[in-house]
Amino acid sequence: MAVQARPLPTDTGILSPENEEKREQLIQMLTKGYWMELETVMSYIANSLNPDGVRAQEVIEHIQTDITEELGHAQQFGQRIKELYGVVPGSMDFQAEQTFLQPPAEQTDIVHVIKGVIEAETAAIAHYEQIIEFCDGLDLVTQDMVIAIQRDEQQHRRLFEGFLREYEAEGKA
Ligand SMILES: [Fe+2]
Ligand SMILES: [Fe+2]
Repeated sequence: MAVQARPLPTDTGILSPENEEKREQLIQMLTKGYWMELETVMSYIANSLNPDGVRAQEVIEHIQTDITEELGHAQQFGQRIKELYGVVPGSMDFQAEQTFLQPPAEQTDIVHVIKGVIEAETAAIAHYEQIIEFCDGLDLVTQDMVIAIQRDEQQHRRLFEGFLREYEAEGKA
């Protein structure tokens, strides 16, 4: 274990000595968010490249846009981990979880990709909801950051829900 920097003994709020346990808990939650974002970047890169078909083009353009946003989220989570005197983990700690965003059997199966994106965004929204609640009255700076990220995820999910509705209306989803 690397020797970690620590807040000052006179610090208040989330950085105060009496909140040390909560600060550690929050760093763990932010680390989970960091990994979720990075796995989403990996999954979205693959799913922006693999799909075949005319209608898939529109969908993959939006996935491409989201890659940049998710990467930005990962960097924000990492930055906040550091500000809270944590250490941003190395790649050896990474564990993949997004079974639902693996390449489909047929690369024309864009519905599989749309559903996978919705599932990834839903998982992010649920986890960030927990962070926002945890930060209430404890760390408004982290809360503010995660609220802004949460809105991006809600936008992402809403867009892909719209795509799915179109396929559902046609009986293809
Ligand atoms: Fe994100
Ligand atoms: Fe997202």
